[in-house]
Amino acid sequence: MKFERIFLIGFMCSGKTTVGRILAEKLQWHFYDTDEEVYKEEGMSIEEIFEKKGEEYFRDVELRVLKRLSLEKKVVISTGGGLGANQQAMQIMKEKGLVVWLDVSFDNFMQRCLGNNNRPMLRKSLKELKALYEQRRQKYLQAHIQVSAHTAPQKIAEKIIQLVQD
Ligand code: S3P
Repeated sequence: MKFERIFLIGFMCSGKTTVGRILAEKLQWHFYDTDEEVYKEEGMSIEEIFEKKGEEYFRDVELRVLKRLSLEKKVVISTGGGLGANQQAMQIMKEKGLVVWLDVSFDNFMQRCLGNNNRPMLRKSLKELKALYEQRRQKYLQAHIQVSAHTAPQKIAEKIIQLVQD
């Protein structure tokens, strides 16, 4: 394996955390989730951060977390949906490791995320979410690898390992 880090990017509810955990276990690497790290750093849920400090503050914290985690080796890092759409974050990830995009369709995203009320972005209207989805796809396209999120997490993890070992 010529990489020291694997970054999973993609829209909300594409399975980044689930796939990331499995992948890290298979590689015997350490697993991190940027949302979890933000929570640990701030001692507040993401919802609370958005509410009390605003989205911009959250975006700064998640970028700082990503920068810190990117210094570690043999790590799988699952990122919040906004990081793969942030140009600075994308540049760091591409420099430091392999960037894998878990590509979920809009309909599938809606089905998977439905009823989830701890993601502040889901308060947007359907129209706004669709626009955000389309806008972010253009950014996610910069990933090194694009993998469909529409199969079992185990299968996706195996596929990623296969792709990186070739
Ligand atoms: C966000 C996605 C969330 C979390 C935050 C904002 C986004 O992570 O970082 O609620 O802007 O898409 P997941 O992609 O893990 O849901």
